[in-house]
Amino acid sequence: MNISLSSGTWSKVECSWLIVGLPEAPDLSGSLGELNTALNGSVSRLLETGDLKGKLAELLPLHDVPGLAADRVLFVGLGKSAELTRARFEKAIMSAVRKVSSQDGITVAICLSDASLESISVAVAVETAATAILVGAQGQDSLKAEPEHFPLTAASIVLTEADQSDATAAIERGVILGEAINLTRELVNLPPQMLYPESFASRAQAVATNLGLQVDVLGQAELEAEKMGSLLAVSQGSSINRGPRVVAISYQGAAADAPTLAIVGKGVTFDSGGLSIKPSESMITMKCDMAGAATALGAVAAIARLKLPVNVVAYMGLVENMISSTSYKLGDILTARNGVTIEVQNTDAEGRLVLADVLSYAVDKGADRIVDLATLTGACVVALGEEVTGAFTNDQNWCDTITSAAATAGEDIWQMPMFDHFAELLKSEVADCRNIGGRWGGAITAAKFLEKFVARKPWVHLDIAGPSFASSNSAHREGGATGCMVRSLVEAAATLAE
Ligand code: BES
Ligand code: MN
Ligand code: ZN
Repeated sequence: MNISLSSGTWSKVECSWLIVGLPEAPDLSGSLGELNTALNGSVSRLLETGDLKGKLAELLPLHDVPGLAADRVLFVGLGKSAELTRARFEKAIMSAVRKVSSQDGITVAICLSDASLESISVAVAVETAATAILVGAQGQDSLKAEPEHFPLTAASIVLTEADQSDATAAIERGVILGEAINLTRELVNLPPQMLYPESFASRAQAVATNLGLQVDVLGQAELEAEKMGSLLAVSQGSSINRGPRVVAISYQGAAADAPTLAIVGKGVTFDSGGLSIKPSESMITMKCDMAGAATALGAVAAIARLKLPVNVVAYMGLVENMISSTSYKLGDILTARNGVTIEVQNTDAEGRLVLADVLSYAVDKGADRIVDLATLTGACVVALGEEVTGAFTNDQNWCDTITSAAATAGEDIWQMPMFDHFAELLKSEVADCRNIGGRWGGAITAAKFLEKFVARKPWVHLDIAGPSFASSNSAHREGGATGCMVRSLVEAAATLAE
């Protein structure tokens, strides 16, 4: 989508909706004052009556605005200027875009004044607004006869006294991020009969080919040759045309001998739990269990389009976890690619079995740093809630890079401990380890399991079981896939590039 930049007088901008960001206790001079005058003083009257407060993400539409070139105005609260952050600003603009995207053929102009942005830079605001224009207008309704959201037909961002050249680059970045997030969301939202390992792999292949990136797809035979016994076991209950895939997409933005960042994603396109079957309520949303892989794909696509000077390989481990006479069983002892033997004590702890082999593959393919993303454990959601990503690491420096990138990107991450004693819980009587750790500390024992497969390379595991999929709609966010961590990964790659 093309988002333009303008610096015109707000009252003269033609569009279906003029979206005006308004802080608490706004200064009615400058652009806002001019708008107030064109509206015959209604902004001041609305502020006096308290109908307009500028509280964060508060929306007030005006449908009849004869003094303006725009058809309607939507005021959106930005909260207290001094408290504005990237995340709060995004919440506000997303709410506004979500509201106006309920009709087809809408054009918007987002009006921002420097004064209201006080604590974030104009470039950050513009980039965030551009992302929000794309993400806010895409829902999870693509298969409804009557969609509830429509992509905006045209959008512009109206700035006063800002550096226009900075803003143009910021819009470009924002659009690339928004499209990447929407790609991730689209894949996660697709139902499991449409998105399965093979169809995911072809989508990933198409994305890579479009961007001129190298892509390798490994199928059953190649995965057997790679001795990925752990990943293959999870897949063995699926029918023949739902076989496993591992996709690797390489982007070389730096010298060939520069370090390589591996982004590894769990791509369980449906998690029934296997023979340790999930109850229906827990299974309903398990199409989301490939969010890690979709995030890796979205991130590498954005990093490549942004031409960041880094080398990145995204690895996607794609399987279904199904039930049949050929399913893997409790008591099976698997041999992972790196030779570690694993006693299966719960077939629903399958994500770690998939990642085990993909992580060791990434290591052998030359990863110097690894970040993995996985909807790995319900325990992480119990610990941190639905909005926060859990971080686990064997290398504090690398983890700090990721967590500060997330802070810059406005996404919430919290680091969890990795004390040695958690590894004891994975001991087995009959194999090198078992695939569950027992009742307590489930998110940590899962991370401790993964650690066995990264060969001590600097590694961060991000458990996105909570934040990758929203259980319901809210004013600022469509329910379903969120595309969380795409922004943070791009930011982390940018940090490495420095
Ligand atoms: N895919 C689930 C984790 C999950 C839970 C993702 C909720 C999104 C929302 C994972 O494969 C799983 O089933 N984990 C088990 C592990 C247990 C068997 C040790 C869990 O969390 O119960
Ligand atoms: Mn599971
Ligand atoms: Zn799972």
